Amino acid sequence: MKKFIKVALVLVGCVSLFLLYVQLSYRQKFEAPVVTGIKASTDSAVIAHGRYLVYSAAHCYTCHMPDSLILQKQTEHMIGGHVFETPFATFYTPNLTPDTVTGIGGYTDEQLARAIRYSINHDGGAMVPFMTYNAMSDHDLTAIISYLRSTTPVSNEVPPHNANMVGKILMRFVIKPPVVVPENIAADTTVEYGRYLAYNVANCRGCHTNRGATGEFVGDPFAGGYRWDVGTATFTSPNLTPHDTTGWIYAWSEKDFINRFKRGKTFPESPMPWEAFSTMSENDIKAIYRFLRALPPSSNKVERTYAVKETEL
Ligand code: HEC
Ligand code: HEC
Repeated sequence: MKKFIKVALVLVGCVSLFLLYVQLSYRQKFEAPVVTGIKASTDSAVIAHGRYLVYSAAHCYTCHMPDSLILQKQTEHMIGGHVFETPFATFYTPNLTPDTVTGIGGYTDEQLARAIRYSINHDGGAMVPFMTYNAMSDHDLTAIISYLRSTTPVSNEVPPHNANMVGKILMRFVIKPPVVVPENIAADTTVEYGRYLAYNVANCRGCHTNRGATGEFVGDPFAGGYRWDVGTATFTSPNLTPHDTTGWIYAWSEKDFINRFKRGKTFPESPMPWEAFSTMSENDIKAIYRFLRALPPSSNKVERTYAVKETEL
């Protein structure tokens, strides 16, 4: 019995020391492997392209403001404060307006570029991969930062993230900046450019590929099957590959695809940012369509994309 108590005490001591170590060291600092050299521009065409990315193809605003403002269509100021509840932490998105106290006004171009390309925040901390723009081109990254600089500062203090012990352990040992090679590709309507958009700008891949418990990709790329519980409904992303029986859009022409994007949401609670994508340029939508058409067909069957949740009686 005495021996058991001794062992138990040693174990408790070790665990406490480990947790203390995590508590003191989970806020690690990282350096970007490469200085991006990105500089904001005041050229109106560059700013306009940045605005297009933020409000359409890259849909930044859908995460960088509270849902309440989006529902009221008051999307002008990306004041942050969108809440993501996860089992490990509550995250609050930052204020992206150039306010110097509560927003990004005090950050350098390099700090902003590093956040988007290397997922390292202004403070040097590694960010959880909510954003999927790491390989975005210098051209698009410059445009976005130029646009952010041109907006009106709005003071809105956003609370800091709130991680539990598991979250802190993950931050200490698991969450690291990704290794990235930016894809500097020129805009056109080719399969290659569509691939660039689907992976690095519009995040079609992130939602239309199935994932495992920790967010890792497990399904065929773009073959759907990833699920969301939203309110009273369950959404499942459809299979976008050109399979003749399981491909959701197999029978859609390029024109059908473009028209579908212009129409916006069918299901009000859909997690897909349809409102943002409804203003995407026809050329960008075409490129994405051509890319999806060139994918290897996957037989992954997604029966329906929307279902009312069965409630337990
Ligand atoms: C899916 C939701 C989502 C989208 C879309 C999104 N963000 Fe974020 N963003 C976040 C979250 C969450 C954080 C905080 C992550 C963390 O600290 O771990 C963040 C952090 C940032 C930061 C870091 C600020 C700092 O403290 O250094 C910048 C800059 C940023 N986002 C810009 C953008 C831009 C530009 C876009 C569009 C190209 C965008 N975000 C789209 C969720 C999103
Ligand atoms: C945040 C997650 C998310 C992102 C990003 C996303 N989708 Fe979806 N998508 C969904 C979900 C969930 C559905 C099913 C619900 C619905 O139809 O709105 C869906 C449905 C669709 C449909 C079927 C629509 C219909 O009327 O049957 C198409 C086509 C589609 N997505 C294409 C794309 C393309 C192309 C992109 C990138 C430009 C993309 N999605 C980005 C989650 C997403």
